[in-house]
Amino acid sequence: MTLIEMREVGKTYGPIRALGGISLSVRAGEVTCVLGDNGAGKSTLIKIMSGLLEHTEGQLMVDGEELVFSSPRQALSRGIATVYQDLAVVPLMEVWRNFFLGAELRSGRFPLAGLRIREMRRIADEELRKMGITVKDINQPIGTLSGGQRQCVAIARAVYFGARVLILDEPTAALGVKQSGVVLKYTAAARDAGLGVVFITHNPHHAYLVGDRFLVLKRGRVELDSRRDEISLNDLTQEMAGGDELDALAHELRRTTK
Ligand SMILES: Nc1ncnc2c1ncn2[C@@H]1O[C@H](COP(=O)(O)OP(=O)(O)OP(=O)(O)O)[C@@H](O)[C@H]1O
Ligand SMILES: [Mg+2]
Repeated sequence: MTLIEMREVGKTYGPIRALGGISLSVRAGEVTCVLGDNGAGKSTLIKIMSGLLEHTEGQLMVDGEELVFSSPRQALSRGIATVYQDLAVVPLMEVWRNFFLGAELRSGRFPLAGLRIREMRRIADEELRKMGITVKDINQPIGTLSGGQRQCVAIARAVYFGARVLILDEPTAALGVKQSGVVLKYTAAARDAGLGVVFITHNPHHAYLVGDRFLVLKRGRVELDSRRDEISLNDLTQEMAGGDELDALAHELRRTTK
């Protein structure tokens, strides 16, 4: 089932063409990886999907309906959730509070409404366990969790609040090997729960561990678009490393031996 489809989507910032001719589909139960070097247009692409930016060319279809998002709230209401690299968490607040941040359960009406704290603690704890995420104490400040654990909490949160599309912007970029593995595991768990996942990364190895489809962007254009069975990890790595450019660089860096 196709959740999001882009047809020849482009974006210009004044005279700068950051993105052009992007066609892709996000399907339920699949991980679509978007790879590319710095400035390739990855963030611009996902900002269009998540409602932070309006595209200036082409069509964006959500559930078969063409639309232009004018705010992140609008995208969220269509079930499109984005986990940014610099997570919008409040480090000193407890894990459960961050889990419910901006969507707190309340009893009674607005001015005098009380927070349903016990219930929120219980749900956050349950939801994290469900995904196999173990935090020592749901009441500990989220700032005491590792970067990987925080990413996992954000993924569990998106799943709990009914996301159908989960966009992850370089979730493993700042993480070591072990923590990256944990984040990749929850990415796969979200996929298995039937979400359409968009996974942004520089790292072809991480992409290949979870990806069903690979899109490599270069200077705002699609350089490569392959299904998993059409490309090997080696080819993907070569594509990302810019094989030819590396050869040229190696030549340039060679010692001049006498
Ligand atoms: N607000 C803006 N105004 C003008 N140009 C912009 C703006 N945002 C991005 N760009 C340009 O658009 C291009 C794509 O940028 P984008 O941030 O999407 O790249 P990226 O692939 O996410 O890079 P990175 O890996 O560094 O995050 C770049 O050339 C960038 O300079
Ligand atoms: Mg970026």
